[in-house]
Parts: sequence; structure tokens; C-alpha cells
Amino acid sequence: MTRAKRKRDHIDYALATGQQELAGFEDVKFVHQSLSNSALIDIDLQSRIGELSLSSPIFVNAMTGGGGGYTSKINSDLSILARETGIALAVGSQMSALKDSGERKTYEIVRRNNPEGIIFANLGSEATVQQANDAVEMIEADALQIHLNVIQELTMPEGDRDFRGALERIEKISDALSVPVFVKETGFGISKETAYSLSKTSISAIDVGGFGGTNFSRIENQRRQRILGFFDDWGIPTVVSIAEAGVSSEVPIIASGGIRNSLEIVKALSLGACSVGMAGSVLRSMIDKGLDETINEVNEIHTDIRYLMCALGCDKIEDLHDVPLILSGRVHHWMKLRGLEPENFSNRQKKK
Ligand SMILES: Cc1cc2nc3c(=O)[nH]c(=O)nc-3n(C[C@H](O)[C@H](O)[C@H](O)COP(=O)(O)O)c2cc1C
Repeated sequence: MTRAKRKRDHIDYALATGQQELAGFEDVKFVHQSLSNSALIDIDLQSRIGELSLSSPIFVNAMTGGGGGYTSKINSDLSILARETGIALAVGSQMSALKDSGERKTYEIVRRNNPEGIIFANLGSEATVQQANDAVEMIEADALQIHLNVIQELTMPEGDRDFRGALERIEKISDALSVPVFVKETGFGISKETAYSLSKTSISAIDVGGFGGTNFSRIENQRRQRILGFFDDWGIPTVVSIAEAGVSSEVPIIASGGIRNSLEIVKALSLGACSVGMAGSVLRSMIDKGLDETINEVNEIHTDIRYLMCALGCDKIEDLHDVPLILSGRVHHWMKLRGLEPENFSNRQKKK
């Protein structure tokens, strides 16, 4: 099986397996306060990931490229979506273009369509410093995402089987690059132990890529003869992973994994994330409803985030980090067992 064919299969199987709706957001509730002191007109969606300034707290997370015309068209549409709505966009892993220069155009289209936009390059943790520099240069990226995907590789019939040295390579890349480096999971979540190790490097953000949305074990199992079903239910739900990563790291946390709508976005930001990535739900909208309708949907999400922030009395994204949250059910249980003190979220006070 060629790499290009695999890229196309990933899109088809991601659409077929869908979003699992197990990220934990149903266990997060806001505490209503009747005396909001905010006006819709003053609400500012400006956000930051470390030193990077963004006009929206949401971005399209890494998906594709490297699968010929099929992936080029999707990246072209995603980049127009990003340009028209002012959101950042991550491309999928660029290793295929580094190995086969014929695939470069499936990524370069993103910068051509959106010369002023914020774009993230993407490579796996097997990458060298030279490959990281080349990936950034290929699309004049504003940051590089390095993905961690042990479960996907193990489930992938032709995947990697040796994961030694990833942290050291991440450290070397983030020391050498002139743009910020983010480390992301791909749907299995980041634990507090992993976040702690990553926080000792010079990376600029951790994207938790939690369990509950797109599931790469299920996707790769579609491509196998002998199913490794035990990985289908493996991973840290996104809501828990935001708390896990946030507790042991000073590094900014990005929320992603199964995030589908404005309420989940605002919950993720309130749990402590500085930004929110969405992949599968954007892909689904693009394929089912087309580019124009997806642009409308993202604009509506921005409007709805403003409504929710107004109800919570938050004028700025950072203000959400202090609103009280009630965490219950499975999320509460997990946090208690991991010493993450859900009461700290329930009893915190808004500064304003
Ligand atoms: C079709 C598809 C391809 C993906 N390819 C990549 C990739 O190349 N690199 C990467 O870091 N993540 C990749 N991802 C993972 C997403 O960036 C994200 O971490 C994961 O899908 C969970 O988020 P979601 O539930 O919003 O989809 C891909 C996701 C999809 C749906």
C-alpha cells in the first residue's frame, strides 16, 4: 500500500467511523451567575498560544496532504475556510512530501490560498531537525506541530514498532527551530506524566488530542486483517486530559479531541485551554455540507462563543479560566483517582 493511498483511506475511514462523543463534555456544567457584567459588543475572541497571537480561539487541526489531488482539494478548501473565518489551520503530516517531492503541492496550496494566515506545519516525533526545518519552510509555517501517535502506529499494519528517543528528538527540534513547536496527541490524550516530561523541553504548547472523537485505532483496525480491538477503547478523554496536562505543566494547553460545537469549545477553554483544535467535525461538515456552509458554521460558532462568554460575564478568553465548573460522573471519578481535585474547579472565583 502506498503512503498516498493510506492518506486517502484515513479520510474515508475517519468519515466512516466518525466522532465517538466520548470526550467527557456532558460531565462539565457551568454555574449560572445572574449578574453578568458583560456586553456582547465588548467580547474579544483574541487568543494566544504562547507567543503566537490568534484572532480566534479555534483552529482546524492537522488532517491531510500527501494523497494526491484528493487531499490537495481538501487542503485547498480548508485553507479557504481558514482565510474567510480568520482561524488558524494545521496541515497533516508532511513526511510524505519530504519523501516524495511530487506531494509538496498538496501542502503548498494552503499557503498559496492564505498568504497572511496562521498555518501550522506537522510531522511525527520520528522527524529530524533538518526535516522539521524543511516542513516549516515548505509552507512558511508560523509554528510546527509534532504529533505523538504510538497507538495509531501499533494498530497500523505497516506502522512503526520502535518509539525510542522521541522526547530527545522533540527537544532538539524545539531548541533548533525559529518558530514555536507544539506537541500534540492524535486522539488518545496526554497524561500528567507525559505533560511533565514535555514541559522540561523548550516546546511552546501541548495539544492534548484526547480520546472521544476521531479514533485512530478504529480507523486502522478497518485496514487490518487481525483486529486489535483492545485499542479501540484506549485513551484519556479530552476533558480529563486537559486537567491532567494542565496540572503538571506551565506550558500552555491546547484542547482537542472530539470537540464539535461552541458549548464544548467554551467548556474546553474554561477547563484551562488557551485554544481549541477541531479536525473530524470540520472534515465531516466540509464533505456533507460544502465549503460555503462550513464557513457559515464557523462564523456562527464565533457568534455563539460570544453569547456564551457574555452569559458567563467573560470579556476575554483568559477570563474563562476562572469561572466555576461542576465536574461530575466519569470525569469526576477519574480526576479524584488521579489527585486532580475537581473541587478546585467548582470553587474558583472569577477575578472580575
Ligand atoms: C483524516 C484525518 C487525518 C489526520 N492526520 C493527522 C496527521 O497527519 N497529523 C496529525 O498530527 N494528526 C492527524 N489527525 C488527527 C487530528 O489532528 C486530531 O488530533 C484527531 O483527529 C482528534 O481530533 P478530532 O476528534 O477533532 O478529529 C488526523 C485526523 C483525521 C480525521
